[in-house]
Amino acid sequence: MKTMDPCTLVIFGAGGNLSRIKLIPALFRLEAAGRLPEQMVILASSLERWTREQWLEEVLGMLQKKYPQGFDEQAFKRFRARLHYHPNPPDDVDAYRNLHKILDEDASFPPNVVFYMSVRPAEFPGIIEKLGSVDLLKQKKGWRRVVIEKPFGHDLLSAQTLQSSLYKHLDEPQIYRIDHYLGKGTVQNIMVFRFANLLLEPLWNHHYIDHVQISHSETLGVEGRTDYYESAGALRDMIQSHLLQLMALVAMEPPVTMAPEHLRDEKVKVLKAIRPITQNAVHAHAFRGQYESGVIDGKPVPGYLEAAGVASDSVTETYAALKLFVDNWRWAGVPFYLRTGKRMAESGSSICIRFKRPPQDLLRLTHHERSHPNWILLGIHPNDCLKMELQVKVPGLDLNTRTLSLDATYRKGDDEDYDAYEGLLLDVMLGDQSLFLRIDEVESAWRVVDPVLKVWSMERDFINGYQAGSWGPRGTYRLFDRDDQFWRHSLDIDGADAQAY
Ligand code: BG6
Repeated sequence: MKTMDPCTLVIFGAGGNLSRIKLIPALFRLEAAGRLPEQMVILASSLERWTREQWLEEVLGMLQKKYPQGFDEQAFKRFRARLHYHPNPPDDVDAYRNLHKILDEDASFPPNVVFYMSVRPAEFPGIIEKLGSVDLLKQKKGWRRVVIEKPFGHDLLSAQTLQSSLYKHLDEPQIYRIDHYLGKGTVQNIMVFRFANLLLEPLWNHHYIDHVQISHSETLGVEGRTDYYESAGALRDMIQSHLLQLMALVAMEPPVTMAPEHLRDEKVKVLKAIRPITQNAVHAHAFRGQYESGVIDGKPVPGYLEAAGVASDSVTETYAALKLFVDNWRWAGVPFYLRTGKRMAESGSSICIRFKRPPQDLLRLTHHERSHPNWILLGIHPNDCLKMELQVKVPGLDLNTRTLSLDATYRKGDDEDYDAYEGLLLDVMLGDQSLFLRIDEVESAWRVVDPVLKVWSMERDFINGYQAGSWGPRGTYRLFDRDDQFWRHSLDIDGADAQAY
């Protein structure tokens, strides 16, 4: 295990949702697991004029809510000793000078500092500017790192504008752009699966793979985030970042080493090789939809247009699907289908890889159904699993075949379970950027989705509806190249015969 420098973690927006639901609980779990460096201080900063005592009460409340059972009192005793609070109300012109004073003069705050921007994206540049103006971003006595959350802009141009405002005060190695999908254990397992098992490598290309599907579905709706979602939509929210990252991991070449730059170089190469969708090809390559009222878990739920804060004529997509091609030697001609949706039939994320059929169907004249192709299925959430579907003979006198699922689910009952943020927070403190996005990855991903966003933003008269609780709009099958391709909704064998929408 690498050793970690002592450090101060400053969380801007500490009173907000991300901090309450993800960051503070993740830090607490790291505390309970004994993974935080001994000399590490957490300085929360938020608009409220709380005292330290009030902040401690807030934190206790968040943690008890998150862990109603088995709350670790001993760990909390240790954790609270690390917690400090710095009020940052908008009318306090001295807030940043005071912050500088604390970090510079108070010896209880280690000079290596992480600034975590758990605030709305529009606020990143302003905070960076203020930190820069009081000289808090220069690496004089210790290192300085800044963590920012997606979305990194809302298109290529705005991402580049955001970037130039960051580069005024920071160098690329100081910037940690989080895509929390990369912190998920199963996502990292894609690399282990591919690069630690030689068996697959000869098959991992256009000669053998028919197509790849990368899916994320949720039964939840937009849950009080309409403000953000109305201007984002499913394509920006999930595909531009998370799903394209998954695609890059599936499609990339083996990196020279697992060093952060080598890994990110390979992901960028894939993103750059994605064939640009020209504006007149958008309809053939992209599909959007918006949920209408329906039933989820037996309960009626309202449609997107009925959510508070949504314009009555909104065409914001809550479902998006893309067909992409990677124009390189390995993947020529293999479609990658990506889709995501809110208020769908089930929640789950997965990667499903369908293989081609054998070159000659030798069993065609025997009494059996048309043979099923092989699949490799990687479940990311809620069940991290790994399955492979093969054909076997049905025992008996006749030569019939059936599909067998080899289930290589690797999680054992006592295996460590952790949240993506736990690992990512440790990586920031360690200075390991492997699981964070480099600016060229972000730019390349915007280049992929920008033409689609542009066309959709012009077509404001119509959006396909789908019933909440269904698998999305019916028309998405038109993205498929052939009629024996269809969305795989389940990782169980029955899922192989799912409907075409
Ligand atoms: C976030 C999106 O980045 O990822 C949300 O903004 C989405 O809309 C979430 O629900 C999904 O993450 P997970 O980890 O629950 O699959």
